[in-house]
Amino acid sequence: MLPLVLTGCAGRHNWLASAGAEAQAVEDLFWVLILGAAVIWSLVIGLAIYAHQTSAPRKEPQARRFIVWGGAALPTLVVGGLLIWGMVILRDITAKEGDLTVRVDGERWWWRVIYDGPDGPFTTANEIRLPQGQTTLFRLTADDVIHSFWVPALGGKMDMIPGRETSLTLTPLEQGNWGGICAEYCGGAHALMRFDTIVMPPDDFRTWLAAEAAPAEIAADDPGWQVFLDEGCGACHTLRGTEAQGPVGPDLTHMASRERLGAGIYAMTPENLSRWITDTDRMKPEVDMPAYPHLSGAELEALVTFLMSLE
Ligand code: CUA
Repeated sequence: MLPLVLTGCAGRHNWLASAGAEAQAVEDLFWVLILGAAVIWSLVIGLAIYAHQTSAPRKEPQARRFIVWGGAALPTLVVGGLLIWGMVILRDITAKEGDLTVRVDGERWWWRVIYDGPDGPFTTANEIRLPQGQTTLFRLTADDVIHSFWVPALGGKMDMIPGRETSLTLTPLEQGNWGGICAEYCGGAHALMRFDTIVMPPDDFRTWLAAEAAPAEIAADDPGWQVFLDEGCGACHTLRGTEAQGPVGPDLTHMASRERLGAGIYAMTPENLSRWITDTDRMKPEVDMPAYPHLSGAELEALVTFLMSLE
């Protein structure tokens, strides 16, 4: 049964291949529980078979000793030990102040991510970058319905509840791109509500943070920027430092620097972006963004080139 159940555990969503301190603590507890349970189960079954096969009656003091040690003392020791260990782990993984604080809001069906930049808070979306070996405190909330924030390889998960703030601490230890998912059914595109969690060396992270905090670099005469304005993209999306200040959809200030689009589901390529703009519903059913199939070939190309320049 175990291999069958574990066939789903592979790749970057594998919580049994921990890449963070909090996930490691839970994984250790899991293996001790599984292996310990296997040992105790074998012992009980072995004794049952033995009892079934021996017909000689037991002497009473021997039976009483067995009941006291095997039935009371051993379980008390094992369960008590697990309780204490579990409480130590709980203390270690409970949210606490970190080297860094990131706010994440769950939206249908994407993630609004707010960092403290060098000049104050700024917003990005659907990709979280973290410094390796440092502790990050996540402050979580939701805009509409209950979501759940989970990066299986790093730790978690934690519900995101409208009108209430929950928190979670993650200490990534290994560099890499660890997948994040929404772990609470939240509507039609729940399964497509994903994000990337990119763990990088602290120095690289600081460089990235400074670049990400900067406003968008736009040439006023860029034809794609004109299409962006004419089609009213700025009513929903923000490009920091420009007149586009829409708060509804993901912030696009440095969208081309992200690895994926559509909340962690498609590679960030010009082809996928074109399809996203003209065929949004098919790329992600039930998404709020309307499709723009009426754009001419030249307009679409200009818009995609412009958006892909926002690094
Ligand atoms: Cu958000 Cu499921």
